[in-house]
Amino acid sequence: MTRLNTRLTTRVGSITLKNPVICGSGEHTMTPEGIRAALAAGAAAVVAKSTNESAAAKAQLDKTDYALFDSQWNRLPWDFKPPVDATLFCRSGLVQAEFGVWLEDIAQLDAEAVQQDAYVIPSLILADLDRCVEHARLIEARGLRVLEVNIGAPHGEEAAKGAIVLERDVDRIETIVSRIRAAVRLPLWIKLTGQSENVVALADAARRGGADAVVMMGRFMGFLPDLETGAPVLGTSAAIGGGWALPLTARWLMMTRKKLGPSVPLIATNGARNGLDVARFLLSGAAATEMTSAIFTGGYQVIAAAVAELEAYVRQRGKTVSELLGEAADRVETYQDQQDRPQYWREFAPFAAPVD
Ligand SMILES: Cc1cc2nc3c(=O)[nH]c(=O)nc-3n(C[C@H](O)[C@H](O)[C@H](O)COP(=O)(O)O)c2cc1C
Repeated sequence: MTRLNTRLTTRVGSITLKNPVICGSGEHTMTPEGIRAALAAGAAAVVAKSTNESAAAKAQLDKTDYALFDSQWNRLPWDFKPPVDATLFCRSGLVQAEFGVWLEDIAQLDAEAVQQDAYVIPSLILADLDRCVEHARLIEARGLRVLEVNIGAPHGEEAAKGAIVLERDVDRIETIVSRIRAAVRLPLWIKLTGQSENVVALADAARRGGADAVVMMGRFMGFLPDLETGAPVLGTSAAIGGGWALPLTARWLMMTRKKLGPSVPLIATNGARNGLDVARFLLSGAAATEMTSAIFTGGYQVIAAAVAELEAYVRQRGKTVSELLGEAADRVETYQDQQDRPQYWREFAPFAAPVD
């Protein structure tokens, strides 16, 4: 077993992670080889590609497609060397393996992860609540140490009926989480949608229901016309994410920390592309960050690079990860707190621009 580096160590409720870099759920965590590669690259935890009982969600995997764009919406090659500001536009599906087979794989991989002071975390995507609860029980009975349940996958409203639930109603969120909580005792991470007017209220509801940590926030749905063909890119609406999402996620983290207090563990997802982004989420209040698109499109070495970059940042600040948690969130001010600077706006107006 490796020794924990105390500078990077972080706590998510009762769980101690060797660093705040989690490999988030996606196609790159669909197979044992992918999960092993993420562990070998130094991820503190790897969230396996999600599953549920829905045949439609499994069938959807055969209809996936993926496209990368630069900031001018020019399509980029899929060469595993994307620029850091690339935007990923895609539709995805769920694991096709039968639940028992999938669970056995994940349990064995988590046993391997123990040797690396890491975790392999099974992930369920909500479809039918009774079946979700049943799967959660089986996961706990097989000895898995953490469970993530995504109740806000962006594709929820596009996918076939019954395949995936995108939940944004606070009462239902509390009920869903309470049902799962009543069935299992293992640490329960609830992943929430970002497609809500009030992600803080969703986090509050998940917490009331008994979530140990909330993961925020799922990607948005987008639509992108192709100028040459006049057709929609990929033919459909699809989920969209990029580094540009970081401040949006960071704001909900900051506001959730303010509302629920610093003791409620928050996990970031949506927008982290490197180790400095993990630091940005840390300062916003996220004890750990799930990185997905950056690893899916850039390869597993993105994990090792992110851990190294974060380590250098933390070292240069002369602090530990725990000391930096929420630092920026706790210093946020209101507009009214800002000092008066009469006429200052003029320096930013176009008439202040130099004339050539
Ligand atoms: C191709 C792809 C597949 C994904 N599949 C899942 C999934 O099965 N379960 C899940 O909870 N999230 C899934 N996600 C969402 C990611 O885990 C993550 O929350 C999201 O992409 C935002 O983080 P990022 O900016 O690091 O990519 C998927 C994302 C992508 C790009």
